[in-house]
Parts: sequence; C-alpha cells; structure tokens
Amino acid sequence: MTTLEKISLPVAEDLHRFKIAYRQSLHSSNPLLQEIVAHVTKSSGKMMRPILVFLSAQLCGGVTEKTIRSAVALELLHVASLIHDDVVDNSAERRGLPSVMAAFENKAAVLGGDFFLSTALCEAVASQTLGVVETISNLGKILIEGEMLQLTESRNPSFKEENYFSIIKCKTAALFSASSKLGAISAANQTSENVEKLTKLGEYIGICFQIKDDLLDLQPDNETGKPYGNDIQEGKITLPLLYSYNHASEEERKYISECILEKNVDKIIQIVNENGGIEYANMILGRYYSKAIKILEEFPASPIKDSLELYIEYLLSRKK
Ligand code: IPE
Ligand code: IPE
Ligand code: MG
Ligand code: MG
Repeated sequence: MTTLEKISLPVAEDLHRFKIAYRQSLHSSNPLLQEIVAHVTKSSGKMMRPILVFLSAQLCGGVTEKTIRSAVALELLHVASLIHDDVVDNSAERRGLPSVMAAFENKAAVLGGDFFLSTALCEAVASQTLGVVETISNLGKILIEGEMLQLTESRNPSFKEENYFSIIKCKTAALFSASSKLGAISAANQTSENVEKLTKLGEYIGICFQIKDDLLDLQPDNETGKPYGNDIQEGKITLPLLYSYNHASEEERKYISECILEKNVDKIIQIVNENGGIEYANMILGRYYSKAIKILEEFPASPIKDSLELYIEYLLSRKK
C-alpha cells in the first residue's frame, strides 16, 4: 500500500463518491472539450486537495453532500489552474502525460482550462451554500493574483523572501487552506473555532507543499511526472535559489544571473546544492511542518487525526 493510499483509508468511501461526481460534472456535448476532458482525466493526480477536504470534514463531525460538492469544485479549480499554468510556464508535461497545451496547443488549452474553471463554479452553486460559492469564487481571484505576482516578480532583480511567500500563499496555500476550511464548514458538527483552526492548518500545509514542489523541481530523479528544472527554464526564483543568490558574493551573483539567463539548469542545481539552498529550504519546510502539527495536536486522538498526521508527514517525504 502506498503512503497516499494509507492516508486515504478512512475516507475511501468519500473519495469513491467524489470520483463519480467529478466525472459527471465534466459532461459536455462539444467534441473537442470531450477530448480534452478525456485526456486530463486519464491521470487523476495525487488528489491532495479532495483528501484534505474529506479528512477535515471527518475531523469536524462527518462528510455531507456539501462536502462532496466542495471537494469536486476545489479539484476542478485546481486542474483548471494546472491547465492554464502549463500555458503560462510553457510546460509540456503534466501527471506523466503531455500537458494540455502540448497535446492540444495553447488556444484549446486556454478554453479547456476555462471549461474546468466554469464547471468548478457550477459545482459550488450546486452546493446551495453561499459560503461555498464565496470561497470558490474568491479563491479563483487569489490564485490568479499569485500567478500574476510571480509573472511580474520574475523580472525583479531584488526579489526578496517576503515576495516569495506572498506568491506561494496566493498561488498554492490558498487552495489548501480553502480545502480544509470547506471541509470544516460543510461538516456535520462544525464549530467556528474548528473552522478557524482548519483554515490555518490548510495554509501551513500549502506552504509546505509548494516549498517541496520547488525542491522537487531541482531533483532530476523526481517522480512528479513534470519536467525537472522547469522553474529555472521559466526564470522563476524559488526558495532554494533565492537563498543561494542572496548569500552569494557579488562575483558569484553575477555568475548565477548569467546561468539563469542561459537557462543552465544543471549548473544552477549544482550551485544551489553547494551553497546551502536545499538545506535552507528544507529547514523552512520543517518550520511550517511543525506549525501544522501543532494545530493538529489540539484535536483529540482518532484514526482521522492519525491520517492527517501522516498527510502532513507526506508533505516532507513525497517524491511525486
Ligand atoms: C501541482 O499540484 C501544483 C502545485 C501547487 C505545485 P499537485 O502536485 O498536487 O498536482 P496533482 O494534482 O497531483 O497533479
Ligand atoms: C503552481 O504553480 C500553482 C498553480 C498551478 C496555480 P507552479 O508552476 O509552481 O506548479 P507546477 O510545478 O507547474 O505544478
Ligand atoms: Mg507556474
Ligand atoms: Mg508550472
């Protein structure tokens, strides 16, 4: 059994219902949309967000129909962001398959991503809960603000760590935070105290998730199903590189800048490894891991809590 399967055991039944609802939501009579949907759903990804929605709901009293709708809306929004992100990042591989932009070209990828995004909004409305509609709609805006900030900041030579955190909080952590929050909001016995705790827990989880994603981009043997070194190719300054750059001498900085301009992926990986960038990013990752565990410790012992603990540990150990 894989770690993810072990984590998902207590919510296996919920995930089964989720998968059926997810597929049904994507119905269209347009042949090209059907082709894109068939391509995207060939590989389901890790489903980190739906798993978090269900574990959070179970922790707060139990999954409801609203929880299923919320999980479907969040995963659809996530996939929409991936389809568009691969256009923005010019990235040809996703989930071990050609990305939508590679298989169908940019025009169809933009429209296909729009279809997933609109379907997410329909699912939120189908929950008949204004709080769900509000969270999903706001989330769409926050994700774009994060991606936009990254786009403008990638040209900024004095990029600071706080800019990095502003970006990842918007483009990644907001989605995880909304997952645990909607899990709690939609649960059978929610309390405002639990909603608050889980919203924060999701944010810490999302920060860990993105820092690990940045680290995996620098590992040629990663199992993410995405091309390694793509962040460097796209001029994206991630935490390991940022640390190495900020702690280099003037001369080294010049050299790093040259390597970035030349898109010399292997040289940059070597520099980041030698200059402590990997260790530093792992240290910060550990800090957010501890913050997440601390929130979880406030809940009484249960198999769901154990699964959430395993989920948080997986953020550090994952290879895909
Ligand atoms: C990829 O997320 C986007 C990031 C926030 C780095 P995942 O790695 O969860 O993607 P899938 O759903 O498993 O493909
Ligand atoms: C992840 O962006 C967040 C979104 C897709 C909004 P990245 O560009 O860092 O993610 P990957 O590495 O392509 O999955
Ligand atoms: Mg991107
Ligand atoms: Mg990308």
